[in-house]
Amino acid sequence: MSHYARGRIVMNIAVVTSGGDAPGMNAAIRAVVRAASGQGLRVIGVEKGFLGLIENLFRPLTPRDVSGIINTGGSILKSSRCDLFKTPEGLEKASENLKSWKVDWVIALGGDGSMRGALSLSKVSGIPVTVIASSIDNDIAGIDETIGFDSAVNTAVEAIDKIRDTAVTYDRVFIVEVMGRNRGFLALEVALASGAEFAVIPEHRISIEEIGKRIRQMGEIGKKSSIIVKAEGAMGDPFQMASQLRRLTGYDLRVTVLGYIQRGGVPTARSRNLACLFGNHAVKLAIEGKKNRLVGLKDGKVVDLDIEESCSSIKKIDEDKYELVSILAV
Ligand code: F6P
Repeated sequence: MSHYARGRIVMNIAVVTSGGDAPGMNAAIRAVVRAASGQGLRVIGVEKGFLGLIENLFRPLTPRDVSGIINTGGSILKSSRCDLFKTPEGLEKASENLKSWKVDWVIALGGDGSMRGALSLSKVSGIPVTVIASSIDNDIAGIDETIGFDSAVNTAVEAIDKIRDTAVTYDRVFIVEVMGRNRGFLALEVALASGAEFAVIPEHRISIEEIGKRIRQMGEIGKKSSIIVKAEGAMGDPFQMASQLRRLTGYDLRVTVLGYIQRGGVPTARSRNLACLFGNHAVKLAIEGKKNRLVGLKDGKVVDLDIEESCSSIKKIDEDKYELVSILAV
């Protein structure tokens, strides 16, 4: 554990990016390394996410190693989806490696799944963790916003603005699928910001007949084109959905699956700023010895919450926002 030498705290912090990448992760790594080194702490980067903890892929990071990355997407540390980390053997191995590197604290950047993984690691190893909320899904309970969400929303909205040109020109209905395997936060935010006529999200079941009926009603009030923003986890295959709606409405339907363009790319200023704030806050928590906290944005402020609590609750969709998409689609 950390100790004081000549009045300064001495501590080794491991930083790891896990799960899906999110624009702004690099800015957060930079913030962690620089905020920590300003306090005389050592930072060790773990490559390839939780897999790198098991495979011992560690390397020291200095402020110079994180130059020129504030504006880049992806993760300089790489990431992975690691099933082995969910097993006792995987966690034991990770714990062994962290101890051999004399790591006192782990800062993990990731979403909901990574937060659960980090908590298990802390339980097995006894090493405290801090999770910096970074995910385009924005589905972590207890906080309003993660790093990367704003960037992904903007990427999708920019794409839909272009798609709408074609939709209007040809009187077509477009289904635009955005990411969100389990939750619809990204889809809802994108639907509202792009002026879409429908948000189809896993949290709200709607039948294909109902969507068809509403498309026809819109046609009757003079709306000849519409955009349906669909989360990937809602209503199955978008191409099947399109052929069903073609049959039900007689409209010309097209599908665009935005996919991984939402995960990458240059982070927005907002994502970068959140990254700087969250990274700095995570280092402060380590210095203060505040264990197992999640760092995110809540009510416009940087907050830290008990990871266990966040893991045991489910983030709710903003129902007013969901309603508003329909209210404005007239
Ligand atoms: O990062 C979260 C997410 O974008 C989900 O919305 C999506 O379903 C998933 O990642 C897919 O990621 P991968 O192909 O890396 O497993």
